[in-house]
Amino acid sequence: MTTKREQTLSEMGLGPIWKLRASTLPAAAEEAPLTVAAAEPERGTLELRADQAHVAGTSWEALAAEVSACHQCRLCEQRKQAVLGVGDVQADWLFVGEAPGAEEDQRGEPFVGQAGKLLDNMLAAIDLVRGRDVYIANAVKCRPPENRTPATEEIATCRPYLERQIELIQPKLIVALGRPAAQTLLQTEVKIGAARGKLHAYKNIPLIVSYHPAYLLRTLLDKAKAWEDLCFMKQTMKALKGD
Ligand code: URA
Repeated sequence: MTTKREQTLSEMGLGPIWKLRASTLPAAAEEAPLTVAAAEPERGTLELRADQAHVAGTSWEALAAEVSACHQCRLCEQRKQAVLGVGDVQADWLFVGEAPGAEEDQRGEPFVGQAGKLLDNMLAAIDLVRGRDVYIANAVKCRPPENRTPATEEIATCRPYLERQIELIQPKLIVALGRPAAQTLLQTEVKIGAARGKLHAYKNIPLIVSYHPAYLLRTLLDKAKAWEDLCFMKQTMKALKGD
């Protein structure tokens, strides 16, 4: 039977919905891994990539351990700690940023510096509170030195961790904050100005692109557009929930 949510997504051009159910996920890495192919047969992404294999089917605990011990790229050399993410692991909302900065590296939590304060205010504007029905993660889990933009290979190396987080959370809506997050999730060149205001999809999950809060701190003029994006996010979630 078609649920209201499936119907809404289908009307938005995002159906059919194929969701992993929590009960179908193996509890630990050593159990038979559930392949993406079995769970999400859409848009030509039927095969599990070789570089995803090490986190395929992992539990949150195993994923967190894997990320904190990760040495797969050079970012591990200067980090204090890897920053997996924060929030409700069954949240409807997933916000994805770029990479931890200095404060995040110190504290082990994403978006706790100036940009994080703005993000918290943005969340408040749509009646969300960090940790409650929201999960916040980054495309890259370790701080790039001097807060440079993560390199393409660093983003690609880290991508399986984000993908596994998404499989575990099963959010109703993903918000990509800024270009690196949007490009990582959409796997294509993105210009924020052109991509915002539209509904995209990561696999079958609706995805909205908006400005990165750090950019908004520097660019006052785009704050009005960010507000429009927040309204769009809220409306979209409302539709997804069938409210
Ligand atoms: N910017 C990001 O993209 N992520 C953080 O965690 C902090 C700043």
